[in-house]
Amino acid sequence: MVQIAVLGYGTVGSGVLEVFKTNGDSINKRAGKEIKVKYVLDRREFPGDPVSSILVHDIEPILADPEIQVVVEVMGGVEPAYTFVKRALLDGKSVVTSNKELVAKHGAELLKIAKEKDINFLFEASVGGGIPIIRPLNQSLTADEIYEITGILNGTTNFILTKMKEEGLPFETVLKEAQEKGYAERNPEADIEGHDACRKIAILSSLAFGMQVDYEDIYTEGITAISQADMAYAAKMDREIKLVAMSKKQDNEVWARVSPLLLRMDHPLSTVHGVFNAILVKGNVIGDVMFYGKGAGKLPTASAVVADIVDAVKHLERNIMSFWSTKKMELLDSYYAPTQYFIRLGYTDFSTAIKQVESLFGNIHSIQLEDYKDEFGFITHESTEGEIQEKLDQLMDGSSGLEIRNKIRVE
Ligand code: HSE
Repeated sequence: MVQIAVLGYGTVGSGVLEVFKTNGDSINKRAGKEIKVKYVLDRREFPGDPVSSILVHDIEPILADPEIQVVVEVMGGVEPAYTFVKRALLDGKSVVTSNKELVAKHGAELLKIAKEKDINFLFEASVGGGIPIIRPLNQSLTADEIYEITGILNGTTNFILTKMKEEGLPFETVLKEAQEKGYAERNPEADIEGHDACRKIAILSSLAFGMQVDYEDIYTEGITAISQADMAYAAKMDREIKLVAMSKKQDNEVWARVSPLLLRMDHPLSTVHGVFNAILVKGNVIGDVMFYGKGAGKLPTASAVVADIVDAVKHLERNIMSFWSTKKMELLDSYYAPTQYFIRLGYTDFSTAIKQVESLFGNIHSIQLEDYKDEFGFITHESTEGEIQEKLDQLMDGSSGLEIRNKIRVE
């Protein structure tokens, strides 16, 4: 028998216990040993819940108990999770976590400790909820040089954008629904401002490129500026607006960003709707591979956590190698990152506005909608972030009478 402790009895923690209750027998067979949850740690009481019989409020008895071989951290946040996880690993206990903040910030260090101790630090559930993506990157795509990862990595924002488009619902209403369904972070700013997707692409990039990609270095923009007007233009252009996280290696430089993107309908990520996530990985040998599934929610996330527990139990005294060193990767300055934009401009005189735009951006094709009369949209030619911004600054130099209503990158 292998005894484990679960730190945190929130959405994911209670999901983990539910998965053991539902599929315990087959999980034990797959692990080759019976797995028993000996402790659940949480600050709160849960009167009437059977968890009460194994509930503790203090980490010390867990860390001091030699019978605990695997610690499952599903509390979220960097502290105290980092301290608990580090101590558990140093004590020789394997750790499974769903905590993307912890993994993005301290993943390389925690993997190093696990390797030194010949135990494991596993974090499949930290990216893409129930989608297997960490294990494939670590174990299946090892023949490849990965040169691009593009993903819809946040279920809450994809759910919001889908409902805004399909049901014309306002942002706030859909966000509330995502919170009720257990998709959103405790502070949903992490979702809607893109920080959650940013941490996830930092984790995937670190694993793909084998170095520490700091999430603070990744240009990040969320979906709070996306309006029904943008949705209408996207429909007119036969495109989908998605919050996309990407990192790309080009000529030995890596650039990464998180931002809304207008995707053409033939882009594989354009068909990913609702709480679903998808990750498109490009390798120099395999070509394109896509991973798809539920990216948030209690049971999909718990499924990935329990799969890691099984892996930890199968490798109690043997480290499963992963390729993520503590050496920092310098990303390309976003000024030089290639890009193309859709820009909505408010004007007072249409033909003057077109002349002003074309004098800077070259020939454009203007897009106008009946419902938005004093503005038009256009797509720039491909350039760099810095050059496009400089042209926009010139366009807005005070005398133009133009107003940028929004700008969204185009893929
Ligand atoms: N808030 C996250 C999301 C949860 O919406 O994707 C899963 O990491």
